Amino acid sequence: MMSSNAPITVIVEPTPLEAGVRVASEIAALVRAKPTCVLGLATGGTPVECYRELVRLHREEGLDFSQVTTFNLDEYVRLAGSHPQSFRYFMQQHLFDHINIPSDATHVPSGIAEDMSLEAIRYEQDITRHGGIDLQLLGIGHNGHIAFNEPGTPRDSRTRIVSLTDATVKANSRFFESESEVPRTAISMGIGTILEAKRILMLATGEGKRDAVKCAVEGEISETCPASFLQEHHDVTFVIDAAAA
Ligand code: F6R
Repeated sequence: MMSSNAPITVIVEPTPLEAGVRVASEIAALVRAKPTCVLGLATGGTPVECYRELVRLHREEGLDFSQVTTFNLDEYVRLAGSHPQSFRYFMQQHLFDHINIPSDATHVPSGIAEDMSLEAIRYEQDITRHGGIDLQLLGIGHNGHIAFNEPGTPRDSRTRIVSLTDATVKANSRFFESESEVPRTAISMGIGTILEAKRILMLATGEGKRDAVKCAVEGEISETCPASFLQEHHDVTFVIDAAAA
């Protein structure tokens, strides 16, 4: 599956909206071609337009999610799915509540499992049981993180409990009342988990992501910029806006 390092394809769209719509059209094409596909999904500010477009495609063009399975990248530790800042809540609000996907086909790691290490193992097993991820949607952190794999994360990392860097806590505090409310730990797919997806789509928009995109696409492959490991995958496309280029 991993291979001969095909260069990363980069598509530049004029605006964040057009970049989101472009990624949604790629996801929709897969859902039409393979109705039973397994999608890997991301949260954060970046994919909101993409999810809005998928909801529109469902409502106006009948895009059918009834046989689709999803796996999200990550979740904050100690936030229940009913917490407005949890990633489960985000996914319900932005996508799952507005399309015809069965709720038991949507997987987000639990942040409140009694045994979090077991939850991480169970999550990996669930992905495998569903035949692996056909298409993984990613966002990128300013520091080059993918999912919550912060700089220093090894290439072969799997789903596990991780500590967030101060920079990530600060960046994510915009979704909370204050920085002190942002959880410092999360459960996150590993880089090794992500690299096993058959195809990877990275969505990155805004000037603030320019350096991270550059290090991911053409920087040296190293733990310093976790997204640079994407260069080792055979089918990665970055869809970015003009500001991130
Ligand atoms: C979200 C995730 C993160 C974000 C990244 C960018 O599930 O895993 O890696 O994709 O932090 O976040 P935004 O889009 O808010 O800039």
